[in-house]
Amino acid sequence: MLLAVPDVLTAEQVLKARQIFEQAEWVDGRVTAGHQSSRAKDNVQLAEGSPAARELGDMVLAALERNPLFISAALPERVFPPLFNRYAGGQAFGTHVDNAIRQVTGTPHRLRTDLSATLFFTGPDEYDGGELVIEDTYGTHSVKLPAGHMILYPSTSLHHVRPVTRGARIASFFWIQSMVREDSERTLLFDLDLAIQRLAGEQPDHPAAVQLTGVYHNLLRRWAIV
Ligand code: NI
Repeated sequence: MLLAVPDVLTAEQVLKARQIFEQAEWVDGRVTAGHQSSRAKDNVQLAEGSPAARELGDMVLAALERNPLFISAALPERVFPPLFNRYAGGQAFGTHVDNAIRQVTGTPHRLRTDLSATLFFTGPDEYDGGELVIEDTYGTHSVKLPAGHMILYPSTSLHHVRPVTRGARIASFFWIQSMVREDSERTLLFDLDLAIQRLAGEQPDHPAAVQLTGVYHNLLRRWAIV
């Protein structure tokens, strides 16, 4: 499932982040890339664990915890501390697949990447190119969202970022280990949850709402690993 999550951050939060980006130190993006992807990657990112990356990462994590659409779609078990990158002057990231397992730097914790996320801090009118292009079984999808919005996609997909030929593209990127590893099972749960919410909104007293909620939880019990 490919899902755009709108308004993860408010306009004020985006503005605050952009002020921090202006003061922050940017380093070569290849520091967090695996062997294959380091050959494809050309961008800069905030130094991992730097005060700026930590402060902004905490802001993103707090926003995700309050976002019902994200929770319902991702069923997060663990979220990797968000990283931040910047592309300008023709920089791009060639086709790659994200590493399956990521070590959280400086900790003994590891995370299986079930979902990949990109949260935009610059708007589509501020740069040319820079589309995130995702290949899945339904074809190729080109993504460029407003500042504050986020795209969620299965980490199993091949993807790339097209060259940024004008302006700068700043985004946060990170991974989620889901309680439900399989994308197809997660997608069914998400669709069922949306249908239950719709029914509960339109006919709050309908007995089927309780029954379907039971089905949701029993499927989650069957598929979740916690
Ligand atoms: Ni990637």
